[in-house]
Amino acid sequence: MTTYPADLVGPAAVLRRQRDRESAARTYARSFPIVPVRAEGMVIEGADGRRYLDCLSGAGTLALGHNHPVVLEAIRRTVDGGAPLHVLDLATPEKDEFTETLFATLPAGFADHARIHFCGPAGTDAVEAALKLMQTATGRRGLLAFTGAYHGMTMGALAATANVAVKEPVAGIAADVTRLPYPYPYRCPFGVGGERSAELSAAYAERLLDDPAGGVVPPAAMIVEAVQGEGGAVPAPDGWMREMRRITAERGIPLIVDEVQTGVGRTGAFWAVEHSGIVPDAVVMSKAIGGSLPLAVIVYHEDYDGWLPGAHTGTFRGNTLAMAAGTATLRHVLREGLAERAASVGARMVARLDALRAELPAIGDVRGRGLMIGVELVDPAGAPDACGARPAAPRAAAAVRAACLDRGLIVELGGRYDSTLRLLPPLVVTDEQVEAVLDRLADALAEVTAPLAAGRGA
Ligand SMILES: Cc1ncc(COP(=O)(O)O)c(C=O)c1O
Repeated sequence: MTTYPADLVGPAAVLRRQRDRESAARTYARSFPIVPVRAEGMVIEGADGRRYLDCLSGAGTLALGHNHPVVLEAIRRTVDGGAPLHVLDLATPEKDEFTETLFATLPAGFADHARIHFCGPAGTDAVEAALKLMQTATGRRGLLAFTGAYHGMTMGALAATANVAVKEPVAGIAADVTRLPYPYPYRCPFGVGGERSAELSAAYAERLLDDPAGGVVPPAAMIVEAVQGEGGAVPAPDGWMREMRRITAERGIPLIVDEVQTGVGRTGAFWAVEHSGIVPDAVVMSKAIGGSLPLAVIVYHEDYDGWLPGAHTGTFRGNTLAMAAGTATLRHVLREGLAERAASVGARMVARLDALRAELPAIGDVRGRGLMIGVELVDPAGAPDACGARPAAPRAAAAVRAACLDRGLIVELGGRYDSTLRLLPPLVVTDEQVEAVLDRLADALAEVTAPLAAGRGA
């Protein structure tokens, strides 16, 4: 083990060394210069002894917060029982239990004919698997994906992802992707806003696909998020999701729903597709299903199971601990009704944030579903667009994120121009913690945005 001189240990030294040695692509470590050493529930403790309420939850991974007792117990039981921790994709009791438990959470119409494929342990690998599965099944290449979408960073998933800045430097992304407008009433792609935004989005998709000169060769699949997470907590209306199901079904286009971030109760239903009642052809799952350990799967209709053995293989597809921790998490969320709790707590948080919007003109929009909430910041002095939305305020958003951290609150940004504060507390957040989050956030917002409203500052 490396030993460092006394002046080289401690949080400042750890931060400096990691900053100097890690890649320029490091992400959260830039926004949150803290060194977590302990965590429990919603609270992270830094090496300097400071405590933070974690409203990022591993980008939506920690349904039960950090180190929940049921997760720790499952991990300890598995280790103490001597189970092999790595087994490629061999059959194990832990995999069997996980699959049984996961299928029991799925809408019946889907679970009855479902197959599961265990992927490399990241959401992006499961997205790749879903795309390959549908390309194999249909013999087609193209993909329908949406503005604002986030599906991951590997080449196929990146092609489906919408963020231009991360795509632009990468030459040769395999991309036969047709980009369709996602309903985002606040910054409506059609410039009309309101419910018309979703109606026009559906009409546009349908007409484009049917236009013999629309330029779209019949695609292998459509991929969609029911609530865009990294895209700024933008929920799609249920009726629009049903339209996407109808449009794809009528044209023989498999529908993949990416539930990597929305799954396991986060949006107020166990799976976000339950809100609209649609039955997709495939669902991509990761993050919370592993109970804080890496795990990713796709679940899909058996009719599509036409690929060859080894078609999407990978070394780390048999993570016994993640399956045990995931089973414990899925059961706990079900048993404790945490999806329902996410719905009611989320509604309360949105109501209070909406009230704050009436006071602070720098808050342009408050939206979300369950505990996936976005607060979009704008420049109150900027001119409104056709829908009344003022220009995005990325510098103010970054300043609010820093002001939150100063107040012991971890909140990350997302959405267009990184101007949306995204609140993703664990589903086990207590009422007291909700109040503390909102108080700290309101305080940070007031401090940063008051000078803006007065025409000064960021
Ligand atoms: C909807 C969605 N899909 C895919 C991914 C990619 O998952 P991962 O970061 O585990 O590769 C993410 C990550 O945030 C996501 O939110």
